[in-house]
Amino acid sequence: MENFSFVNPVKILFGKGTIGQIKGEIPAGDKVLVVYGGGSIKKNGVYGQVADALSGYEVHEFPGIEPNPQYETCMKVVALIKEKGIDYLLAVGGGSVIDAVKFIVAAVYYEGGDPWEILSKDAEIKKALPFGAILTLPATGSEMNGNSVISRAGIQEKLSFASPLVYPKFSVLDPTTTYTLPPRQVGNGVVDTFVHITEQYLTHYEGDSMLQDKLFEGLLKTIVAEGPKALETPTDYDVRANLMWASTWALNGWFGNGRPQDWATHMIGHELTAFYGLDHGQTLAIVLPGVMKVMWKSKFEKIRSLGCEVFGVCGADQASTVDKTIKAVEDFFEAMGVKTHLSDYGLDEEAIDKVCKRMEERRWKLGECDDITPDMIREILTLRR
Ligand code: NZQ
Ligand code: ZN
Repeated sequence: MENFSFVNPVKILFGKGTIGQIKGEIPAGDKVLVVYGGGSIKKNGVYGQVADALSGYEVHEFPGIEPNPQYETCMKVVALIKEKGIDYLLAVGGGSVIDAVKFIVAAVYYEGGDPWEILSKDAEIKKALPFGAILTLPATGSEMNGNSVISRAGIQEKLSFASPLVYPKFSVLDPTTTYTLPPRQVGNGVVDTFVHITEQYLTHYEGDSMLQDKLFEGLLKTIVAEGPKALETPTDYDVRANLMWASTWALNGWFGNGRPQDWATHMIGHELTAFYGLDHGQTLAIVLPGVMKVMWKSKFEKIRSLGCEVFGVCGADQASTVDKTIKAVEDFFEAMGVKTHLSDYGLDEEAIDKVCKRMEERRWKLGECDDITPDMIREILTLRR
């Protein structure tokens, strides 16, 4: 196991009816800005619960954060914060709203030129406003990590940043808020959670971090068992609770400590969203099976563990083990309603060319061994036509 030092400061308020507890978390007298998305929280009662919990505070609101949150929208919120003298933000929604708020709280204090530099130049964040989160879509882990992904449609970019200063002070995880998720978002969320785990588990490492591997396998088994049930019985509390807690653990940083991590599937997937607007989960469902196929030699031991431990498929030899496991992963994604090929989304060679050209320009080294070249990315995507 590699050395590590790690802290995760996010306080979790988990369970039915916990939105009301936010009152105790936000300093009395603070001016609060509630930031949310396109209105799902008004249809499912979350908005009303938040309004009740914030009675007594001076509350402002900003609706309209898009899925794959846009830089320009975030900058409108920055202007509103300065105008109103806001002290504390509350992100209410899925990963997009929480990620947007992370960028906003850092951009408010950014002293360089354009806050876009936080994303494009990895510019240092020295200060950020405090914020809390109320999660309504289990998927990204954003509720308990310091990462954020922001898009800029005008230049077809989707970039991420991370800072210890943008962890939420608290996050409310009330599984009942997820009952109203459309099947598409349930599927996206389960695929995203699955791939967060495989990015940290499906690597060349073997044997040196058994505890982390077994914890990840527990998460994978949980979502493989519970994901389809969430589609069948959307108001089963325990199913929703298991999925919500699993997605938080998949990317709160703890289990990934001490071992190498891949993240190639995410990096390639982000370009598909930047160019073609696909949902984050959709891009991952396309790319992961290709990464498994092209990188199978260095990942073989973990692919075998995934197949045998999680899906109960073990081949007679290496080749059949790899093929059976990839098929099991694809079948699972499809069972969650998330299509796994570029053609399912109307994409063809042109998309492959565009992503590969972008990857050449970026000169990023992908994979846990920094050995996935642009040519290999072409191979990965060509397998996924
Ligand atoms: O905007 P509203 O009306 O709220 O509707 C949303 C949105 O249309 C809807 N929704 C959310 N909760 C709902 C609901 N509808 C009904 N009932 C509910 N309870 O779902 C739609 C999608 O929401 P979004 O927040 O975009 O989805 P998700 O949570 O999957 O977030 C995706 C974003 O997170 C980034 C992705 O790249 C993408 O931009 N990621 C962030 C990460 C992180 N911060 O660590 C890691 C991830 O790998 C990912 O990259
Ligand atoms: Zn993701």
